[in-house]
Amino acid sequence: MPRRKKIALIGAGNIGGELAALAARDELGDVVLFDIPDKLGLAQGKALDLEQNGAVLGHDAGIKGTASWDDCAGADVVIVTAGVPRKPGMSRDDLLGINLKIIRGVAENIKAKCKDAFVIVISNPLDAMVYEMKKVTGFPRERVVGMAGVLDAGRFQLFLAREAGVSVKDVRAMVLGGHGDTMVPVLSYCTIDGVPVRQLIAADKLQAIADRTRNGGGEIVKLMGTSAYYAPASAAIQMARAFLRDEKRLLPAAAYLDGEYGYKDLYMGVPVVIGGAGVERIVTIELSADERGMLDRSAAAVRELIDAGKKL
Ligand code: APR
Repeated sequence: MPRRKKIALIGAGNIGGELAALAARDELGDVVLFDIPDKLGLAQGKALDLEQNGAVLGHDAGIKGTASWDDCAGADVVIVTAGVPRKPGMSRDDLLGINLKIIRGVAENIKAKCKDAFVIVISNPLDAMVYEMKKVTGFPRERVVGMAGVLDAGRFQLFLAREAGVSVKDVRAMVLGGHGDTMVPVLSYCTIDGVPVRQLIAADKLQAIADRTRNGGGEIVKLMGTSAYYAPASAAIQMARAFLRDEKRLLPAAAYLDGEYGYKDLYMGVPVVIGGAGVERIVTIELSADERGMLDRSAAAVRELIDAGKKL
């Protein structure tokens, strides 16, 4: 008999809790909500609240709060939010020292207990964290991916839709590169129901929207003192669902590059196909000279961050 899938969420904070709610509501499988021993009560409390939520809504997912890696054993999907979020005035890169140590420990445990899992990393600075996850676990690149592009593209799509006065459903946008100040909103591939966005929105407005997208995370940190969690969780669940249901979605995600786009030994946001085998394909698209230049600058910034991480 096929068993239910198991989704281990490492970090039971703001994003972890929302991930658990979405995974359960979507009936993706049973959920394990893991955190450090100090936060066991938080993990267990959220798990119980969410199971009761399931009873109200009428879905059956089991949700367990835990501080034991044994409960995560054999997970099909692991989503990692362990770490510290940004405070106002901080960049994602400022988190490198603290979160790198946390990711190393988490990765050792994933390697030991969840050796066949598809791993999605959310912790920041994203590109350096997901690089470390692959390095420590030694998992193939198909099974270690970073969540950024779906979120950044969502932010971009919202701002474009509001400017054009159309539904977000009709806007498709792409954001590539590192998940930081150098990310590249790729205007040449942004469309509103197939119509290139440049035909519908003035150039100066588009520039302002691209800038707001780059600072989309920081804008929220400034408002509420910590980083966003609803949209990041939805974005990661979209990726997990693509894997669990073999949907073969073409999504922007931080993938390990081994020569694609001219970069080697680097994690960065590119279009990928996610299906039952994980990151099944990295899709190479043509970029304008301008976009190519921005991607190169972004790659250089990511490389610098990864190199800084190697010294820690
Ligand atoms: N193992 C498991 N969980 C851990 C560990 C660890 N070694 N270290 C810390 N955590 C937990 C914290 O105890 C906390 O409950 O990770 C959780 C993080 O939750 P929040 O502080 O609420 O942060 P959140 O908003 O969920 O963001 C998490 O994602 O987007 C990124 O920048 C963000 O790096 C941050 C991460």
